Amino acid sequence: MKLTDVSLTVVGVPRHTGFVNKHIIVRLYTDEGVTGIGEMSDFSHLPRYAPDVKDLEKVLEQILIGKNPFDLALINKELLDNFPEAMYYYEKGSFIRNGVDNALHDLCGKYLGVSVAELLGGKYHDKFKVCYPIFRHRFMEEVEENVEVVRKRLAEGFDVFRLYAGKNVEADAAFLAAVEKEFGSKVTIKSLDFSHLLDWKEAARVVKRLSRYHFELVESPAYPNDFEGLRHFRHKIDHPVSEHVWSFRQQFEMIKQESVDIFNVSPIFIGGLSSAKKAIAAADVAKKSCLLGTTQELSIGTAAMAHLGSTMTNLNYTSDPTGPELYIDDVVTEKISYQDGYLITPPRDTAGLGIELDEKKVEQFTLPDLSWNDVTVHQLQDRTADTKS
Ligand code: LMR
Ligand code: MG
Repeated sequence: MKLTDVSLTVVGVPRHTGFVNKHIIVRLYTDEGVTGIGEMSDFSHLPRYAPDVKDLEKVLEQILIGKNPFDLALINKELLDNFPEAMYYYEKGSFIRNGVDNALHDLCGKYLGVSVAELLGGKYHDKFKVCYPIFRHRFMEEVEENVEVVRKRLAEGFDVFRLYAGKNVEADAAFLAAVEKEFGSKVTIKSLDFSHLLDWKEAARVVKRLSRYHFELVESPAYPNDFEGLRHFRHKIDHPVSEHVWSFRQQFEMIKQESVDIFNVSPIFIGGLSSAKKAIAAADVAKKSCLLGTTQELSIGTAAMAHLGSTMTNLNYTSDPTGPELYIDDVVTEKISYQDGYLITPPRDTAGLGIELDEKKVEQFTLPDLSWNDVTVHQLQDRTADTKS
């Protein structure tokens, strides 16, 4: 089988918060008539410049056309040569590699009539627990709105939440107090996520201040790539510390410097399922735990993570992918589903990712390019459509 063509389609899908996230749907065509689909998820992160999508399509055509899609190692190596690691969390090259690697896995699975989970080592879980995100408080007035999100999502079965914290600590405390008062043990706060916004010492002060409330772990409580800062934080604070993996060099440093307890692995940030498997294996070798992180993918990207998560034997903490619940709509015929706060992984008899595009929906959400227009930094960081800052 040989790859014959590549097509990239930009879609902008709004969230319930009003924020519109831009993604690229990848289609890989072959001489056997089998098509692979993938997702380069969420280009709506800093830095605020965008790849030229027509140009990207041409580059990927040069890399992929004529190759056998089963040559995953060779293709991933070439992708890495063209879109190298940059020690940066939101590096767009990783998003690009992820979308292609997703689509190749879908294609190979479809061709063989096996699921992506089987390609990745075989299914170990039928479902895994996920948490719903509460976006960062900037103002006190947002506390009640966020408690309402908890009320609504709890009624749908999501009983674990994570809180983006550290911008308005008064509001963070008020939110945690209100949740404890209203829901008691019915709701669990999985983590306080500082998104690398604070110096480790400042993050430690905030965590101490919020420690009278229950939360299971702390994520990203230091500036990016501050491995020592993370280690100092970890020694100072009792909670387990988790950090995303955005490059193998960075993961190696975190292992060497004993910076974390948990690796937050997501295919999007490490550049695909093949790379994510490697990061998960490295965590295992270092005797660290894992959780599956997210950028909040649409259903194609979430399906890839569902297959991956179903194969993991070191998935010891609640994971994050809830994208299909955050967006007002999707571009597939059947969305990924959740039950009682679990992501339900695709059945064993799935071929590939087991996801079908809804062409009408794709058309409805298609945009000409990834342009930023007037989106601000605060909107990007806080995932809000609100222009107050
Ligand atoms: C999101 O898109 O909601 C997340 O990727 C936000 C973040 O930066 O963690
Ligand atoms: Mg994101």
